[in-house]
Amino acid sequence: MTSEQDDRAFRALTQQITRARGLACDSYKDRCLRRRIAVRMRARGVHSFTDYGRLLDQDAREYDLLLDALTINVTKFFRNLETWRALAPRLAQRWTARRGEVRAGSAGCASGEEPYTVAVALAETARRLGQEGLLGRARVDATDIDRTSLERTRAAEYGEAAFTEMPAELVRRYFTAELPRRPLPALQRIVRVAKHDLTSESPPAPPYDLVVCRNVVIYFDRPMQERLFSLFADALAPGGVLVLGKVETLFGPARERLVLEEPRERIYRRPAS
Ligand SMILES: C[S@@+](CC[C@H](N)C(=O)[O-])C[C@H]1O[C@@H](n2cnc3c(N)ncnc32)[C@H](O)[C@@H]1O
Repeated sequence: MTSEQDDRAFRALTQQITRARGLACDSYKDRCLRRRIAVRMRARGVHSFTDYGRLLDQDAREYDLLLDALTINVTKFFRNLETWRALAPRLAQRWTARRGEVRAGSAGCASGEEPYTVAVALAETARRLGQEGLLGRARVDATDIDRTSLERTRAAEYGEAAFTEMPAELVRRYFTAELPRRPLPALQRIVRVAKHDLTSESPPAPPYDLVVCRNVVIYFDRPMQERLFSLFADALAPGGVLVLGKVETLFGPARERLVLEEPRERIYRRPAS
């Protein structure tokens, strides 16, 4: 097969996936898509994109397995602990200014470890300020495109492996002791879980004091990344903070609108005025 035929067959397959499941494949990097589709093709013993497309038509369950493979959902509580440490004084500042009415979003939240990390960080802020009673005023929107991930976020049950980066003291303070561990009800009450496709929908409830979108845009091509960065800048309240993943960098028009406050931790702020 020539590389042109291969490209055509690949395009036809990604269009089929978009039609069937609404995933905007053309916003993801080709390299990423190809690698992950190849994993599924190998698993099913299929050797061409065309044959894999036929298989998808015959076996709807394969779509679920493929979408799981495409929307990789590796995550942990307090992933990159230093980032959360750098965020803590900013949350405290925001908390004080907003008297606890902090709106946060975790976009691409996978199985919920990230939004619950935000909830713990907010609870810690409230505790340090002696304002635990105000925690109920905060809200964390946990969103993802992947249904299975959202079900896990709603179930909020976690094995030991999810906690390897989280300080033990915080695990004891905010999670049940027995496994699977669950976040305390006060945290569960402030996390709202909703399906949301970053490539086609605006952030659910702006303005946000904090938007955390880490290790998600890396799978998108540059035009989509640039669009999302502008959407995040729009969604932030003046003075609000954006956190990207450690290997992700803001560029495009949003770069002019947001100030890079912590280069290593990819923490940006929308100026207050
Ligand atoms: C590697 S995980 C990142 C989890 C978490 N943010 C972290 O850094 O630990 C990537 C997540 O992005 C989600 N995702 C991929 N495409 C998406 C889209 N178009 N809209 C919303 N979420 C998406 C995946 O389903 C997956 O849960």
